[in-house]
Amino acid sequence: MERYIVKGGRPLEGEVEISGAKNAALPILAAAIMTDETVVIENLPDVKDINVLIDAISKLGATVVREGRHRVKISGKTINSVCADNEYIKKMRASYYLLGALLGKYKKAEVSMPGGCNLGTRAIDQHIKGFTLLGADVNIEYGKIIAQTKELKGNHVFFDTVSVGATINIMLAAALAKGMTILENVAKEPHIVDVANMLNSMGANIKGAGTDVIRIKGVEKLHGTEYSVIPDQIEAGTFMCAAAVTRGNILVKNVIPKHLEAISAKLYEIGCSVEEYDDAVRVIGNTKLSGTQIKTLPYPGFPTDMQPQMTVTLATAGGISTVIESIFDNRFKYVDELTLMGAKIKVEGNVAVVEGVEMLKGAQVNALDLRAGAALVLAGLGADGFTVVEDIHFIQRGYEDFPLKLTKLGATIAVVNDEKEIQKFKFKTA
Ligand code: UD1
Repeated sequence: MERYIVKGGRPLEGEVEISGAKNAALPILAAAIMTDETVVIENLPDVKDINVLIDAISKLGATVVREGRHRVKISGKTINSVCADNEYIKKMRASYYLLGALLGKYKKAEVSMPGGCNLGTRAIDQHIKGFTLLGADVNIEYGKIIAQTKELKGNHVFFDTVSVGATINIMLAAALAKGMTILENVAKEPHIVDVANMLNSMGANIKGAGTDVIRIKGVEKLHGTEYSVIPDQIEAGTFMCAAAVTRGNILVKNVIPKHLEAISAKLYEIGCSVEEYDDAVRVIGNTKLSGTQIKTLPYPGFPTDMQPQMTVTLATAGGISTVIESIFDNRFKYVDELTLMGAKIKVEGNVAVVEGVEMLKGAQVNALDLRAGAALVLAGLGADGFTVVEDIHFIQRGYEDFPLKLTKLGATIAVVNDEKEIQKFKFKTA
């Protein structure tokens, strides 16, 4: 089993280039099959979740040509199945975007119930509510969601909870529904806007993405396009925290600084220097950081996907911090792993109280999910001694070239397979 070994205690310095946003690229790939014309997508991150979805799209019969690591050409003309249920797609949250895309285009879709990182209850009732209001019959049979109708008709959908996935999914289907759909109480994340822009570049008529109300005037069909995915807000935030955790100095390049404001503001508040440029942010992690309060919220609030990385940052900041997780009901499982590294954190329900310690100590820890895994790598980089992070397949789902990018910043990190390789690494880097 592959794992990372990290030798910590050295400030990370230099520049890092951020890849395309995974969570924007996934629905954009699904949207690409909604036309019979060719769609070219650029700036795709080369990560496992993206590659699995591309594979699933090709299994539906679409013609998929990889034109390099970050570019793909897709033609939905050859699709001969509306059923996506392979083993891996079951484990992926974003598989549900195929529902909206296939239902919009073919008025029928069968997709395995979505998996994804285990962060607590991850309901899909708002997706089902939205599709139903557009006129679809939605049933769950043998672990599959089956949605079908003769005709999708625009409607007024008021979401009971703010959901990134439901907002995008209903937007996909409504793009090809008859008449007007109005979505209220929607998510406003940057990737919502990116998917709307992509669909509009295919001839859809979507207004208001990024605000509380999205208006979608259904069109009869969509056409081909060439579209480049926005930079990954969470990958960028992770490297910004890496600068803070290791007390380093990192220029995070190829980003949209506006998307990072909640993260920049918190890092500044705890004592980091944060400089914003047109398409880059520099974070300097000063030696003395102070604690703060964090509450995760839908965009533009502090992103839940940055909660573990920020908690690791606060683990060695002075004083007491509180972190409130308000999006998911079980997103603090990684705290037990951090405790193994000497962190002083108490979790009560959805609140973590962090008492900053001088320094973390290396340990053997498990990456329990994608973002928690990345956060533990950051913890290892800031810690004294060696840290082994197990189950890195979670991290590989969403971070392109993570060890390579860190190495270029001066990190001592390697992928190892067994105890022998761990000992060799320790010997070489001692
Ligand atoms: C997406 C992101 C994930 C991020 C999350 C919140 C992808 C592939 N994943 O996940 O990385 O952490 O947004 O920013 O883009 N909910 C319901 N009913 C629903 C849908 C959601 O109650 O039908 C609840 C969820 O249980 C959760 C909250 O709403 O408590 C937010 O979930 P949602 O925004 O839908 O997250 P995802 O789209 O699954």
